[in-house]
Order: sequence, then C-alpha cells, then structure tokens
Amino acid sequence: MKLFGTMCVNNKGHLEIGGCDTVELAREYGTPLYVLDEKHVRKNCQNFYQAFTQKHGADVLYAGKSLLTMAVCRIIDEEGLGLDVVSGGELYTAIKASFPMERVYFHGNNKTVEEIRLALEHKIGRIMVDNLHELEILNRIAGELKTSAKILIRLTPGVEAHTHEYIRTGHIDSKFGLVVENGQAMEGVRKALEMENLELCGFHCHIGSQIFELESYAHAASVMMKFVSDVRDETGFETSELDLGGGLGIYYYDGDQPQAVAEYADIVINTVQQQAEKFELPMPKVMVEPGRSITGPAGITLYRVGAVKDIPNVRKYVAVDGSMGDNPRPALYQAKYEAYAANRMNEDAKEVVSVAGKCCESGDMLNWDLSLPEVKSGDILAVTATGAYTYSMSSNYNRLPRPAMIMVNEGDVDLIIRRETYADLLRNDLVPERLKKKVVNIANAR
Ligand code: LLP
Repeated sequence: MKLFGTMCVNNKGHLEIGGCDTVELAREYGTPLYVLDEKHVRKNCQNFYQAFTQKHGADVLYAGKSLLTMAVCRIIDEEGLGLDVVSGGELYTAIKASFPMERVYFHGNNKTVEEIRLALEHKIGRIMVDNLHELEILNRIAGELKTSAKILIRLTPGVEAHTHEYIRTGHIDSKFGLVVENGQAMEGVRKALEMENLELCGFHCHIGSQIFELESYAHAASVMMKFVSDVRDETGFETSELDLGGGLGIYYYDGDQPQAVAEYADIVINTVQQQAEKFELPMPKVMVEPGRSITGPAGITLYRVGAVKDIPNVRKYVAVDGSMGDNPRPALYQAKYEAYAANRMNEDAKEVVSVAGKCCESGDMLNWDLSLPEVKSGDILAVTATGAYTYSMSSNYNRLPRPAMIMVNEGDVDLIIRRETYADLLRNDLVPERLKKKVVNIANAR
C-alpha cells in the first residue's frame, strides 16, 4: 500500500487524508470528489523552494496547467513560488486570485491578441515567445500599449526524454518553440534583439513530462548553454535567464521511480554552472516549472461503487460514479493508477477487478486489474495521485457535471470548487425562438 502525504488508515479501517475520514467526506460532499491535501501541496512547494531557491538562488514557477484554482493560486503565492500560465483563462484565474503579476510567466504556442493584451495590461512578469509570428504580434501590441515586453524565447533543444510519446515536447518535430539545430532559434534571437518593444531576457525549454531520468535534464541544460554561448558569440547578447521547464515524474503505479527534488536541483544547477565556466559565461538565473510533482501526489479522487458485473473467467467490472470526464488520463495516455477500497483498508485483497467509468464509451476505464478486497456496491473507492491533470483536463462528456474539489488540512475541510449542477450544464445553452416549445421546470435541478 502506498499512501502519500498525510494519508493513513484510521481506527475504523477507513482511509484518512488531511485528518479527515474519506468515507465521511464522500457522505458529506458527495462523489465523485476531488480531495486535495493542503499540507502535502505546501510540502511539495517547500521541497522545490528549498532545493532550488534557497540552495541555488533559482526560481520555481508552478505550472498551473496541472491544477489551477483560485485557492491553489493563493497557496502557491504564499509558498513563494512563481506561476506559469498558458492561456487567458489561467491568467485570468491568477489575476482574480491576486497573484503577484511580476511572478507570472505566460506560455503557449498560439497566444491570441486578446491574451497578449490582457498579459501586458496586467504587467505580467515574462512572456515566453514560442515562434516568429508571436514575436511580431507581441512587438506590435507592446508598441500600441506603449510598454516593453520582457520575453524568453522558447527553444526546441532536440532532447528526447523517455516518456509517453504524447507528452514529449523537446524533440525537433514539435509544435513548440524554435529549433536550435536548423538556425531558426538564432534567427528568432536576431529578430527579437532588433524589435524595439521587446526586451529579451533569456531562453526556455521543456523536454517533456513524467520524466524519471535526470540525465535528460542535464543534457537539455547543456544544449541550452551551448546555444547561450553561440548567441553571445554571434550577437553579443548576454543571457541572464534560463528556464528549463518542468516534467519531474511522480509515483502513480508500481514501477514508477520518482527522483528526489534535491538531486534534480543539483544536477540541473551544476550542469548550468559547469557549462557557464566552460564557455566563460556569467551564470544565468535558472528557473524550473514543476506542475505534476507539486499537486499530483497531493490529490485523491473518491468514487462510489455502483454496478458490479462479473463475467466469470473473463473479468469483474466495478463501475463507479466518475468517468473519463473527471480523469481522462487512463483513456488518453493509458495512464495507470492505484486505488483502494477506502472503507475497508484493513481487509486483504481478495479479487482482481477493473474499474469502469460511467461514460458511454468502452475505453472509459479508470483502472485495469486492481487487487482489492471484495468490492460491493456502495463502497468508496479512492484513486491516488490524482491531483494533477485531472480536474484541469476534465470535461462534461455525456453531460456529466464536474465533481467538487475540497481541500483538507488537520481535520478542516474547505470547498474550493463547487460541484457542477445540471443548471450549470445549461448555463450557455440557447434555444432559438423558432425552436422553442415550452420551458420545462424541473424542481431541484442538481
Ligand atoms: N512547463 C511547460 C512549458 C509545460 O509544457 C509543462 C507541461 C510543464 C512546465 C509542467 O510539466 P509537469 O511538471 O507537470 O510535468 N496532460 C499530460 C501532461 C502534459 C504536460 C504539458 N506540459 C498528462 O496528464 O500527463
């Protein structure tokens, strides 16, 4: 059994997290339910802060794409991290949560004019420019707003991290960034240096996600520093900031071997330092952008078991009240998760079952072949390590309302995302006059 953060088994044999009995939480807040362990999120932030900021003077920018809510923004701010946003919506969340804008970094391979305006109007810290087109429009908009945009240029360093194909981003055939190898990146630098409303601060790369090989980071850092040196030689520009992206892997399932944050920090910083010495460059300010490793292990999802269907000699399906709508990762990436019968933690595993979601889609499976005690309808199933890329990737497929999210800490519970209602699902529906029949009133639309 692998329990993270404040998780433990209480004297009723129930799974507990943040000092709260998960069976009680399920009863009170309903299921499916996202539960975030506040202490664990903070601890993960502190690990990064100590390893990178305190030890090496590097900045840690939390990647909001993994999980961004206003409450999460507040915690990230309190823990002294910066924030990486990737859309107008994420930026808006940060603005509304009063996140200090100078610590916000804006990513994205196709930022719209409106998004860029919003960012500049709020005096965002940095914009990570992804391509030559963006250089042009950013320069123009900054000029219109009579401001200067501080930028980092995103590079494609040609490093392949060993991870799932869909989430590799550092190799050359990628929609992200300017390629170093073919000269596009250097062209971008020259253009940026000529543009009067842009202030180039440095470079960025991100080589993938759920990475266990720290060597990949060292390799990427070396390629980036070689480029920094080439840029100095060819243009005279001195790079002051180097952002090496996120991607540190976490434990989801047997076989996953996460690396220690302190080791990750040392390898990254030492490599940059060595390369700086080798090329006689000043040491740039280094930044990293962890997402999954901050929020992933700190979240669980609670489901209630409904239909149990045994196909003798084939498979036992246990259907829960959630789906690929609240966690698309198994369907999308064949991601594997561990899960526990939260109300029978002390019972021995008796059978192998597969957990089905409730969407009309055979691929909507949350776990395959889990060893569990005999699972019955009404049991609470807790899937672990669901803090990252679940809510943030959730959908209303099959018109299922999104679950609520609560944050737990020493027995206290805060609701941080309200459960969607059926009325929420219709919030943006419009019926043209000519199609209207009558408006149906359903009492207590959930
Ligand atoms: N920085 C950049 C520029 C990124 O693109 C990403 C993730 C991160 C930082 C944070 O990476 P992390 O530390 O969370 O691995 N939906 C996929 C993951 C996609 C990651 C996209 N970029 C999944 O559920 O596995």
